Amino acid sequence: MLTAPYIFRSSTLSESSQELDLVRRPRRNRQSSAVRDLVQETRLHPSDLVSPLFVVEGSMQAQPIASMPGIYRHSLDLLVEEAMELHRLGIRAIDLFCYIPDEKKDLMGSEAERSGNLLQQAVRLLKQEIPDLCLMVDIALDPFTTHGHDGVLNDAGFVDNDLTLPVLGRMSVLAAEAGADIVAPSDMMDGRIAYIRRALDSAGFSHVGILSYAAKYASALYGPFREALNSSPKHGDKKGYQMNPANVREALMECHLDELEGADMLLIKPALPYLDVIAKVRNVTNLPIGAYHVSGEYSMVMAAAQNGWLDAGKVFSECLLSIKRAGADFILTYAAKHVLKN
Ligand code: PBG
Repeated sequence: MLTAPYIFRSSTLSESSQELDLVRRPRRNRQSSAVRDLVQETRLHPSDLVSPLFVVEGSMQAQPIASMPGIYRHSLDLLVEEAMELHRLGIRAIDLFCYIPDEKKDLMGSEAERSGNLLQQAVRLLKQEIPDLCLMVDIALDPFTTHGHDGVLNDAGFVDNDLTLPVLGRMSVLAAEAGADIVAPSDMMDGRIAYIRRALDSAGFSHVGILSYAAKYASALYGPFREALNSSPKHGDKKGYQMNPANVREALMECHLDELEGADMLLIKPALPYLDVIAKVRNVTNLPIGAYHVSGEYSMVMAAAQNGWLDAGKVFSECLLSIKRAGADFILTYAAKHVLKN
């Protein structure tokens, strides 16, 4: 039986009758802030973080999102200010999502591929105002379709994979034309990475990268995001394309396929409930891995913090550090300000 402090007897030594009690004291490495920092294994740096930003039409708009305290939909003018504030805090990459008014939505999500749309305007403006910011653009149809699904529907109301790919391809080229550095397809259609890669290359955008949402689960944690973009599916759910939370081998397969198809980076989403997936993917790929600390993960902490039950800054720092410890190279998170001002 071990009693504290734990005593281990060295059997070789006791055999030679030179009894030596070794007292193991791991606390020595925790005795001061300097020593703790010296032996710290994982670190969070501002350049590890990507801030998702929501864009809305109009001017002087900062529309609060009720289920995401502290997060807003910004019109272009205020979007630039928000991005500049984040940039000053050390954020070097952002990911753009557009809020599309109902009257611009249709069955095919055609606003997504209209030249001059809000997405193109936002990318152009940010590129011009903050040239060294890495601009990612979400590529998926759900904010643009009346039914709220990520693709084009067939007659049975099921998302048609191969009819969706050309729309994703054109949407990606549009983002690239406006100056996006990285396109981030988040829809989980089969074969989209290869399709988008070819579309970008043949339009002269071989330098534009693809961050593939390679393992995206059909999670209940996307609720607040869908409120932010008014993009909830009007019928059914997304289980026909997003993954079953019970599966991890399937995630490895998805990541492998996207790597073969030409993804430059892989994303796993959500983050905290899927740390095991991040760790397993880390072991089998040499591509950079991102994790999406999603809206529900943000809102849970904020709700508790608003009740005075948790310190949001500290909890977020711990959560993001855990995601890195699991093996992620970078993290998409709404909590950047909480962590960097902490
Ligand atoms: C849509 C998309 C979603 C998120 C990112 N892109 C929602 C969904 O799949 O329904 C969720 C992000 C979040 O919850 O923060 N393609």
